Amino acid sequence: MTSRKPIKKAVFPVAGLGTRFLPATKAIPKEMLPIIDRPLIQYAVDEAREAGIEQMIFVTGRGKSAIVEHFDIAFELEATMRERGKGLSILDSSRATPGDIITVRQQVPMGLGHAIWCARAIVGDDPFAIFLPDELMIGTPGCMKQMVEAYNEVGGNLISVLEVPMEEVSSYGVIDPGETRGALTEVKGLVEKPARDKAPSNKIISGRYILQPEVMRTLEGQDKGAGGEIQLTDAMAKMIGHQPFHAVTFAGRRFDCGSKTGFVEATLALALEREDMGEEVRAIAQRLLG
Ligand code: G1P
Repeated sequence: MTSRKPIKKAVFPVAGLGTRFLPATKAIPKEMLPIIDRPLIQYAVDEAREAGIEQMIFVTGRGKSAIVEHFDIAFELEATMRERGKGLSILDSSRATPGDIITVRQQVPMGLGHAIWCARAIVGDDPFAIFLPDELMIGTPGCMKQMVEAYNEVGGNLISVLEVPMEEVSSYGVIDPGETRGALTEVKGLVEKPARDKAPSNKIISGRYILQPEVMRTLEGQDKGAGGEIQLTDAMAKMIGHQPFHAVTFAGRRFDCGSKTGFVEATLALALEREDMGEEVRAIAQRLLG
């Protein structure tokens, strides 16, 4: 195994307006909506940390400061909890190591590719990860850890993929798959939001990426793509053939928390598994269904 430059940086595009969850997201970012007692962004940051990532780069926008606050030390809260003799360990995962949270602003919503490009100065010449926090990935190990393990083997660029029914492909980035070896599939092509009859497969990009820094150069000056937005998928497509490009089929579960039903599904699924409430929630669900 050749040694690869380790993945220490992750970009979290969190500037989106969250219009699908209005009015809940009028005054709070959608990434702060909780699945039980952890905001969505926390699941993504925890998954990053588990994979050995140290620098969290949030591409934010106006009205998104609660995300940064969440990872800060809440002095008054901690002091009061201490006074009352309450343990603080419940706050551990929301306290960042000083200097580990970095924010850049995306002033105008111009698409995922543009959001990622906004982080170019901080990414520099290092390979980096991307997390779309809407996509909640639950697994042991987590999705990014599985991808980092694959990266250590093959290097280059990797995306997580999963299969969806053919009628859903037009909502996603879709891969043209080459040879498959275990969880790894070679990526021969990529297309963003294709019409169903134009889609090269039903394997969609599911919100986790490991990319080489060259993608920033590719994004520079790139034309608008699907939906009139600067698409990350288009930039990645241009890198195929120049650098290794693989898809990793994630062994675990994925919840689309960008949709209301996906959000409810995630809440229910995770609540049923919790030691502190699983049994109670199961009884409630049975009663409601009965
Ligand atoms: C984005 C990406 C798409 C990917 C999807 C996963 O689309 O552009 O390739 O499949 O996330 O959720 P969006 O959901 O922003 O339209």
